[in-house]
Amino acid sequence: AWSSNSNHTDFLSCLSTKIPSQLVLTPSSRSFKPLLVSSIRNARLVAPATASPPLCIVTPTQASHVQAVVRCGRSHRVPVRVRSGGHDNEGLSYRSATPNGEAFAVIDLSKFNAVRVDAHAATAWVDSGTTLGELYYRVATAAPGLGFPAGVCPTVGVGGLISGGGMGLMMRKNGLSADNVLDATMVDAEGNLLPDKKAMGDDLFWAIRGGGGGNFGIVLSWKLRLVPVPPKVAFFNVTKTMDQGAVDAVTKWQTIAPALPEDLSVRVVIQKRQATFQSLYLGNCSAVVATMRSRFPELGLTRGDCKEMSWLQHKAYLYFGDTSKNMPLEALLLNRSMTIGPFVKNKSDYVKKALTRDAWKKIFLWPDSGAVGQLILEPHGGMMSRIADDYTPFPYRSGVLYNIQYVEFWNGTGGHGTPKWLSGLYDDFMAPLVSKSPRGAYVNYRDLDIGVNKVVGGVTSYETAKVWGERYFGLANFKRLAKIKRKVDATDYFRNEQSVPPLLLI
Ligand code: FDA
Repeated sequence: AWSSNSNHTDFLSCLSTKIPSQLVLTPSSRSFKPLLVSSIRNARLVAPATASPPLCIVTPTQASHVQAVVRCGRSHRVPVRVRSGGHDNEGLSYRSATPNGEAFAVIDLSKFNAVRVDAHAATAWVDSGTTLGELYYRVATAAPGLGFPAGVCPTVGVGGLISGGGMGLMMRKNGLSADNVLDATMVDAEGNLLPDKKAMGDDLFWAIRGGGGGNFGIVLSWKLRLVPVPPKVAFFNVTKTMDQGAVDAVTKWQTIAPALPEDLSVRVVIQKRQATFQSLYLGNCSAVVATMRSRFPELGLTRGDCKEMSWLQHKAYLYFGDTSKNMPLEALLLNRSMTIGPFVKNKSDYVKKALTRDAWKKIFLWPDSGAVGQLILEPHGGMMSRIADDYTPFPYRSGVLYNIQYVEFWNGTGGHGTPKWLSGLYDDFMAPLVSKSPRGAYVNYRDLDIGVNKVVGGVTSYETAKVWGERYFGLANFKRLAKIKRKVDATDYFRNEQSVPPLLLI
């Protein structure tokens, strides 16, 4: 059995011989709960009082500690989950979403957050527990003129983000974060330290760059290719109400945004019947205003809407808005203890054929009965469409116009399911309008509604997992991931409700 009290005691005593005791917290410690909830902002992911907490949380400071947790875990049949930034949309890095699920330990990599920049080579070794805000700040201060393509929110962890791809406003020029990984260091399912991609082999190095976190091992550090950014970038943030033509503008945006010059990304946030167009242009305001006026006059962009700022200031602006003007850029090095917010549920889609104006009008007017729904549209095209579907496990490349992220927020005490706005819109209305057979989804916007694993005879079933797997990765990439899993973790040690299963046959 994978779960018994005597295993657990033996596991903890195994850890105590290899890891300093102050780095291993058990539920009896006063610091345990604050650490466990330190990354949780979504009330939906706070476990009910009746759920079992992890057996312990280990906060390693060196690779040997991570190796020890995996080795002790294997010997005493205790699985581990790894947390970098803890932003998993279903909380799989620190909680079991299965009622009465097996006991597990958490490796929390928040102390693994060194960033070593080599400005001359335009590369950086970045530990997985680094947040995006830390990464941006360290890169921009150590190597002005260089940046890295990654996500918008500065509290997201590098470990999970790169493991699942990593979309952001520079992907049209530079691809996903995972496309810019040159090397990595990881601990495998046997507890071996694999110092570089040569030790991993091509297959495993392919799998960790977008095949989803928590599947193949624990990546400690990533060697990233840094990319040039100009001293000043241009930013605009323009909101249109329905009366001001928001529906027409979004309808047109669908085909314009993926075809704009690659130095320019314009994303859209739709909420409360308004659309906000937010940009990053790797150049100055006069050039971007001229481009937008000729390519997208419906937006009515003027010079007054555009601001020039450093690449790092742009990160702060996108997150904190206008208030960032009065903040030091060190605000991006946010500390991780956050307050828990409302209930949140996310889902995603990919769009290959533009929706009609009529469809958008219905989406804008979709009844939300008190809840707050948001759609975030991220344009693809550019570099994204020149990368082959199997270059990494992330398959949404050529032919994709944009990604949709649906976010619903609600308050209350219960209600762990998907609320009404989202399920009505996503399940029924959007289904025929978005990518089909399979309907696409982004693994980093993890959604357990699209399928959860079944363990059969001690191993995760491939057939069951295929249902969600082909939606995140496409069938060919998912099958390759499952074959790699068979090679590197045949006994399925790293497993969770949506982990890649080992493909045992063939
Ligand atoms: P977390 O620590 O929860 O890990 C996520 C998964 O990866 C878990 O399964 C975990 O076990 C595994 N994992 C973590 N560290 C690992 C490691 N070192 N080795 C192996 N596996 C590991 N995405 C995006 O592409 N662009 C964006 O702009 C944003 N923005 C954004 C904002 C907010 C507020 C949220 C909540 C989420 C996003 N995301 C995003 C999605 C984000 O990319 C996704 O949630 C990542 O998995 C988060 O990585 P963390 O390390 O923070 O999560």
